[in-house]
Amino acid sequence: MNMLSQFLWVILPYLCIAVFIVGHIFRYRTDKFNWTAKSSEFIEKKQLMVGSILFHLGIIPVILGHVSGLGIPKSWTQALGISDHLYHMGALYGGGFFGVLTLAGMIILTARRFTIKSVRKLSSASDLIVNVLLLFIVFMGMFSTIVTNVVQPEFDYRESISVWFRGLLILRPDASLMADVPVSFKIHVLSGFIIFGLWPFTRLVHVWSVPLNYVGRSYIIYRKHRAS
Ligand code: HEM
Repeated sequence: MNMLSQFLWVILPYLCIAVFIVGHIFRYRTDKFNWTAKSSEFIEKKQLMVGSILFHLGIIPVILGHVSGLGIPKSWTQALGISDHLYHMGALYGGGFFGVLTLAGMIILTARRFTIKSVRKLSSASDLIVNVLLLFIVFMGMFSTIVTNVVQPEFDYRESISVWFRGLLILRPDASLMADVPVSFKIHVLSGFIIFGLWPFTRLVHVWSVPLNYVGRSYIIYRKHRAS
C-alpha cells in the first residue's frame, strides 16, 4: 500500500475527526457568543425558506441512510432476510429521492448566497466555502449513486467503503479496501471528511444547537404595553 493511499484513507480521515472534536471544544471555549448560523432572513425570505426546507427534508433521511449503509454490516441485513437486491433498490430509490431534495435545496441556497448582492456581502468566506463544498459533496454523492449503478452495477459499497469506514471507527484502518472504489465515490468520501474538519470553524456549528426544547416548552405570552 503506497504512501498516498495511507495518507488519503487513514491519516486524513483521522486528522479530520481529531480537528472536528478539538475544534468544537476550542470554539465553544473561545467563541461561544458567535456560535450561530448568522441569519440572513431579514434580507431575503422566500428562497431561503424553500431552499432550507428542501435541504433539511432531504439531508435528515440521507444521514440516516449513511448511518445504516455504512454502519450496519451486510451480513446483519442478510440475516434479517433483506436480500442484497432489495437493500440496493431501497438505497438507490430512497437515497436517490432524498438526495434530489437535498441537492435541489443546496442549489437554491447556493444560488441565493451568490446572486443576491446583499446576502453575498453579509457572507463570510467560510459561509461561501461551506455552501459550495456542501453542494459539491451532495452532487458527488448523487452522481456516484446513480452513475456507478449504471456503469458499474457490480460495485457494492457495502463490501468496500462501509467495511473501511467501520475499520476506521474501531481503530483498525485498512486503506487497501478503498483501492478499487470508483473515483467519484473516493472524491465524495474525501470531501465528506474535509467538511467534518472544517465544521467547528463554520456556521455548521448551529446543528448542535437545535432548540429541541422549543417544541415542548410552554408558550411565552406577549402583552401590549398599556401606557398608564
Ligand atoms: C464522511 C464520509 C461519507 C461517506 C463515507 C459517504 C458515503 C456515501 C455512500 C457509500 C453513498 C452511496 C449510498 C448509496 O448508493 O446508497 C453516499 C451517497 C450520498 N451521500 Fe455520502 N458519504 C459521506 C459524507 C457525506 C456528506 C457529509 C454528505 C452531505 C452533506 C453526503 C451526502 C450524500 C448524498 C446526497 C448521497 C446520495 C443519496 C444517498 O444515497 O443517500 N455524504 N455517500
